[in-house]
Amino acid sequence: MTAIHVLNGPNLNLLGRREPGIYGSATLADIERDLRAQAGRLGIDLTFRQTNAEGELVGFVQEAGLAGAGVLINAAAYTHTSVALRDAIAGSGALAVEVHLSNVHAREAFRHVSLIAPVCAGVICGFGPMSYSLGLDALARLMAGRSDTTQP
Ligand code: DQA
Repeated sequence: MTAIHVLNGPNLNLLGRREPGIYGSATLADIERDLRAQAGRLGIDLTFRQTNAEGELVGFVQEAGLAGAGVLINAAAYTHTSVALRDAIAGSGALAVEVHLSNVHAREAFRHVSLIAPVCAGVICGFGPMSYSLGLDALARLMAGRSDTTQP
């Protein structure tokens, strides 16, 4: 069974009450519930985690990558700052998709840069919780393609 780890970075535990004009009213528990339902339909074994600590997020990425699981990651503010996170994705060989609730390109200039995007298969942002749903679908398809031995 395909395994995907959904990894959430700092302050995403505050979703629902955090700057609702930007991030909306859905809580992280709402997002997890919907993704679990989607994963069930897709036949994916889903792990869902959140941490406010950079080192812990690095550990989560390593764990997923070394186990051969896909990584759907909203690294939140660490997206824009963390070389360690970038190195964890690259070093563990994780197949990763970066997601953001908000359209980071329509916001402050410091949010336009992602240190992890170059080591991710793709980036989805600006669709609210739907960014996660689209990301899960994309990652599941990529992983299915990777394990399909009939492909050249
Ligand atoms: C975010 C965008 C980041 O710039 C910000 O630091 C976050 C959330 C998003 O999902 O829109 O914490 O990753």
